[in-house]
Amino acid sequence: MIFFITTSCMILGLIIALSYLRFRIDKQDKTRSYASWLVHKTKLVFKISTWVNIKKTYNSWKTHHYSGYKKWIFIGSTLSYLVLFISGFLFSALGLIRLQGVPLLIHVSFGGIFASCAALTLLFRSGDYQFESSPFIISGLFWLFVLSVFILVLTAITMMLPFVSLLWIQTAFIFHRYSAIISVISISLLIFFTLKKSDNK
Ligand code: HEM
Repeated sequence: MIFFITTSCMILGLIIALSYLRFRIDKQDKTRSYASWLVHKTKLVFKISTWVNIKKTYNSWKTHHYSGYKKWIFIGSTLSYLVLFISGFLFSALGLIRLQGVPLLIHVSFGGIFASCAALTLLFRSGDYQFESSPFIISGLFWLFVLSVFILVLTAITMMLPFVSLLWIQTAFIFHRYSAIISVISISLLIFFTLKKSDNK
């Protein structure tokens, strides 16, 4: 129950925080109140053009930062993270049941893909997120995401080791759940501030 409440607060808090930040920097709609701006933007979510723009942004980021075979690392890490997010949170957050059976199998399989792609991404991209060469908020969020992914992988492995005591598995499970929440918050804010930085260029 606590995880259900925490996850719901996380998702709601992120939507309110990021939408309000976006509303504050949105120069076009200065006449609107936050509430009518939010209704207007929510309607846009159901428009095809919005998803076409998201795909364009995704592809331009991929082309710019992941040339040649590296594009598969970007595709692998982003799509597997999405599957892990949906499979991990759907059951525990909405269904109030533990992740199990086929969904757990999907979760663990994509977990392997994600862990490998995340390691390669760190190899190729960590240089761009040094505190000396990039804004503090962006580097800070990037390394917070890396730390949460490291704990996610470590706890996932711990949960699957046969010789580990039940107490360790239960502790690892709790750490896994809450580092999943930290990974979602940090990556959402990282995407937000990265897009804001490229908007300001
Ligand atoms: C890195 C690779 C990953 C592996 C191998 C992995 C594996 C697992 C395993 C084995 C469980 C425990 C299932 C159980 O005992 O009930 C689990 C639970 C969970 N995972 Fe992951 N996971 C990974 C990454 C992630 C990521 C990136 C997220 C979120 C963005 C995530 C979110 C969750 C959540 C929310 C649960 C709890 C589900 C519940 O409450 O029943 N996992 N994961």
